[in-house]
Amino acid sequence: MIVAKEALTRAIEAVVAAGGSEPREVKLVAENLVMANLLGHDSHGVGMIPRYIDALLEGGLAANQHPKANVDTGALLALDGCKGYGQSIGHEAMQMAIERAKRHGACVMTVANSHHLGRIGHWAEMAVAEGLVSIHFVNVISHARVAPYAGMDARFGTNPVCIGIPLPGEAPFLLDMATSAVAQGKMRVAHNKREKVKPGLLIDDKGNATDDPRYAVVPPLGAILAFGGHKGYGLALACELLGGALSGGGTWHYEESTKQRVLNGMLAVVIDPAKLGTVDAFKSESRQFVDWLRKGRVAPGHDKVRLAGEPEREMRAKREKEGVPVDDTTWQEILAAGAKVKVPRQALEKLAGL
Ligand SMILES: NC(=O)c1ccc[n+]([C@@H]2O[C@H](COP(=O)([O-])OP(=O)(O)OC[C@H]3O[C@@H](n4cnc5c(N)ncnc54)[C@H](O)[C@@H]3O)[C@@H](O)[C@H]2O)c1
Repeated sequence: MIVAKEALTRAIEAVVAAGGSEPREVKLVAENLVMANLLGHDSHGVGMIPRYIDALLEGGLAANQHPKANVDTGALLALDGCKGYGQSIGHEAMQMAIERAKRHGACVMTVANSHHLGRIGHWAEMAVAEGLVSIHFVNVISHARVAPYAGMDARFGTNPVCIGIPLPGEAPFLLDMATSAVAQGKMRVAHNKREKVKPGLLIDDKGNATDDPRYAVVPPLGAILAFGGHKGYGLALACELLGGALSGGGTWHYEESTKQRVLNGMLAVVIDPAKLGTVDAFKSESRQFVDWLRKGRVAPGHDKVRLAGEPEREMRAKREKEGVPVDDTTWQEILAAGAKVKVPRQALEKLAGL
């Protein structure tokens, strides 16, 4: 089904509010998730709500939390996310890092124990909107889903890396990616739609290549591979060591968990180019480089050369106009999540305009 973004936001707001969140948090969570859908990242959109509600009811996610600063020297900021909604903890944490980066030229921030931070690009976008560069390494405390290079067993999560860079005269460069060959949520979406996935992304429980997303979703589990062989694997480990160990939030080193909560640890480095003294060169060189890049020939089978961030903006323009597709399994799971916090099915359907 296709739902207009406003109607989808209202339905998600009703579920989050029924979970006990204050209006500010309700708005942050719903708008963040619907934005992920608008940008085409359904894996990090409203389909996460059932998991959030289960985590809330299990006690792994707490409503109405604020980041607690364990260290705040200005250029160094160490925060505890207190298991709060990542959409709210991430928002406040980035506001703090942006303010300090503008004051000191840079802010190195760690966030430990935040519940799922969703699309990491959302946080880089906040800094980039203020003319800042924003670099993020994130680990995932949830389930091991990704195998190390040359390994057969899943040992860590889909550990995302994100780099946001403002560009003069156009929308920013926004590289925002899982270090796994594919995001875990995309396997859930493919499994819900009963689709096969591209070869080279997954191994089954015996270590053989497979195109069946079930091996990333339901037992017997196989593993997702890291992108780019040993290189993506190296970046994934950097996320674990920086987002997990350096933040103090913790790394993944457990046998399978039955808990629904997803915690993220994040290292973010926010830099103010205006304070670095290179801002004129930064703008002019980025402009010239991007123009040069685009003057290259387009390879057969492609329509244009894009910068990271462009595909999401194109998808947003389309979905703002046409509405957000929500597959039936995901919608049924959202209705069931609503019922767990006593939002009647009919009320949600009405809010979603169905
Ligand atoms: N919070 C968490 O625990 C967690 C874990 C993993 C992933 N994530 C999020 O999942 C989302 C999806 O990650 P993904 O790896 O599936 O993303 P993806 O593979 O769809 O895109 C990765 C990057 O490549 C760029 N890109 C895509 N096509 C391109 C093209 N044709 N030309 C140039 N650039 C292009 C995109 O703009 C994006 O920056 C991200 O927002 C990530 O932060 C979150």
